[in-house]
Amino acid sequence: MTRSLPMSVPTEGLPERVTIYEVGARDGLQNEKTTVPVAVKSELLDRLADAGLRTLEATSFVHPKWVPQLADAEELLAGLQRRPGIDYPVLVPNERGLDRALAAGVEHVAIFASATETFAKRNLNSSLDEQFTMFDAVVTRALAEGLRVRGYVSMCFGDPWEGAVDPAQVAAVGARLATMGCAQLSLGDTIGTGTPGHVDAVLDACVAAAVPIGQIAVHFHDTYGQALANTLAALRRGVTTVDASVGGLGGCPYAESATGNLATEDLVWMLDGLGIAHGADLDTLVATSAWMAEQLGRPSPSRVVRALGG
Ligand code: HMG
Ligand code: MG
Repeated sequence: MTRSLPMSVPTEGLPERVTIYEVGARDGLQNEKTTVPVAVKSELLDRLADAGLRTLEATSFVHPKWVPQLADAEELLAGLQRRPGIDYPVLVPNERGLDRALAAGVEHVAIFASATETFAKRNLNSSLDEQFTMFDAVVTRALAEGLRVRGYVSMCFGDPWEGAVDPAQVAAVGARLATMGCAQLSLGDTIGTGTPGHVDAVLDACVAAAVPIGQIAVHFHDTYGQALANTLAALRRGVTTVDASVGGLGGCPYAESATGNLATEDLVWMLDGLGIAHGADLDTLVATSAWMAEQLGRPSPSRVVRALGG
């Protein structure tokens, strides 16, 4: 029997190339019940690099009590053989986190804002307004140190405490991060409630708030099985950076209804079918997810991983 592969049918109105921003080692592991050993995290990052991925979000320099699963950030980066040509961004919420990231020799940091008041409080112990003061200090210093800065916006498509989130509110938060100096904005569907028309509405609001599509990345959690459809909607609008997590690992410890991210393998399958270049090797990714599933003691939720026997 030959191995199944999608037939490549290049489709008009889509980008020729997509950058996969792999968040498995960070978003994927921050929510695990147990802390994954640092050697396993390091091997995961090496395997993802072997699979051809070039942007690997590695860890977070957040308060270790808030996210104990990533309390080993220093140890991980000290032991990791960082490869030339591979970008290893890390999450940094505040100046204390930036100090730690700079000491670890990081070149790319990501701040993470909330589009809603409740999640700002729960995730950052801050108000919606205060978060900008915290991030402004981080971005100003990070840029002065020559780092690149990404800005996440969470709860862009719904919030478990506040319900619907106005796209104009999302765009206003994104525009403030862009003005601060974030080179890229990643719009997070933290709890996975978005649908493709909603993606259009949020992107329309961003464009109306003078945030260019070229600056936007998308970050879909797959709670309701909408992540791939939402990704296609974003690609049709010209988005070319898509966040994904190997094997569909992921979630947010401060949003219980958040489940895994869009699985990198599911994304790769669709991109291959659409004839969009991405640089990743599907078999190596599936093997990585199979190996990671053994480490975690449970199978990957990715349909592609399961279909290919991972
Ligand atoms: P806080 O308790 O308000 O912090 O937490 P504080 O500023 O009041 O400081 C209290 C103590 O913590 C001080 O120590 C600080 O030095 C220390 P003391 O003086 O009492 O000895 N401290 C730190 N220590 C180490 N590293 C730090 C740090 N900061 C302060 N960075 C804080 C505020 C923002 C730190 C906390 O709320 C936090 O760490 N939150 C992070 C939560 C998190 O990581 N959530 C998951 C990531 S977001 C996500 O997953 C969504 C995303 O994927 C997109 C999507 O899906 O939508 C990105
Ligand atoms: Mg996330």
